[in-house]
Amino acid sequence: MTTDLVLRNAVAAAVMAPSSHNTQPWRFRIAGDALELHADPKRQLLVIDRDCRQLVESCGCALMNARVAIRAMGHEEHLTVIPPGPDLPVHLATVRLGAAREPTALDRELMHAIPRRGTNRRSFLARPVPEPVIDELRALTTREGAELARLDPGQKAALATLVEEADTRQFSSGMFREELMSWLSPPGSRRRDGIPFEEKEYGSPRAFALAKIMRSPMLGELFGTLEESLVRGSPAVVVLGTERDDPAAWLACGQALEVVLLHATAQGLAASFLNQVLELADLRTRVAKLVPEVGYPQMILRIGVPAEPIHRVSPRRDFRDVLDA
Ligand SMILES: Cc1cc2nc3c(=O)[nH]c(=O)nc-3n(C[C@H](O)[C@H](O)[C@H](O)COP(=O)(O)O)c2cc1C
Repeated sequence: MTTDLVLRNAVAAAVMAPSSHNTQPWRFRIAGDALELHADPKRQLLVIDRDCRQLVESCGCALMNARVAIRAMGHEEHLTVIPPGPDLPVHLATVRLGAAREPTALDRELMHAIPRRGTNRRSFLARPVPEPVIDELRALTTREGAELARLDPGQKAALATLVEEADTRQFSSGMFREELMSWLSPPGSRRRDGIPFEEKEYGSPRAFALAKIMRSPMLGELFGTLEESLVRGSPAVVVLGTERDDPAAWLACGQALEVVLLHATAQGLAASFLNQVLELADLRTRVAKLVPEVGYPQMILRIGVPAEPIHRVSPRRDFRDVLDA
């Protein structure tokens, strides 16, 4: 396989990564034997992600997929992260293709999981997530420069209350509802980004009822109550965090997040995100106090065996649309 083909394949793997509201806020450039990852600030969520934290984390997820793909295609990969400055760098990282090497079992496992991973916003079976699996997720997280902690039942109950509060407060904001609405796509849409209506569970099976309901601030209470019970009923809730809170830490955490999601997928597990709590500064501080061992909380996940099989409906832009010459 030529260098160019390996790197193009890596971009095709990268675009399957998760991103907040499925904004896919990334661009790639191939320069010789190197693949550059750039943020796409035009895709920033200005209401819920003013500092671009989630945008950079999403780019970190894509970067991890590219690195996994390069390794699985039988090459070493050498990562350079652009050092943080006062402004958010647009060019976030470069991965250079290294010497040929045999992929490890882990490389193959993670690669195989890339197209099978999907967010599960619905419930999980009441089947425990074994502690050794959580230990593996913790080790993978640490390797990328982040921390992972599993919440005990008391912490889970406290977090469930914060989730309920976050939903109620966010949905009472017209700006929040407008931004979310602009990233939801109706059935049959040809849009290649955003979240399909049917993926969001608002307690109503009728997708189009959502458009009407979205104008109501009461949705926060409805959705909050629903999510609160999902948190309490989840077999595992984990928080990922970092020692620092800057773009380099967000990029590291995004990579840790994706490796956690891929390894979980390989174990027959799936995850759902509870980021709303971290989008409100005062609630994020309360999470930091609840789980001090992770440092700055960056990501909250429910993990378990999905009650229904994951049906992947979340669209993606073609990799050629995000690859600059
Ligand atoms: C940084 C980040 C934050 C996210 N936050 C949320 C969230 O708060 N709520 C949610 O339901 N999904 C969240 N997601 C999941 C995305 O909506 C999801 O990845 C995207 O719609 C693509 O779907 P897929 O993961 O099934 O491929 C987040 C994903 C990332 C990477």
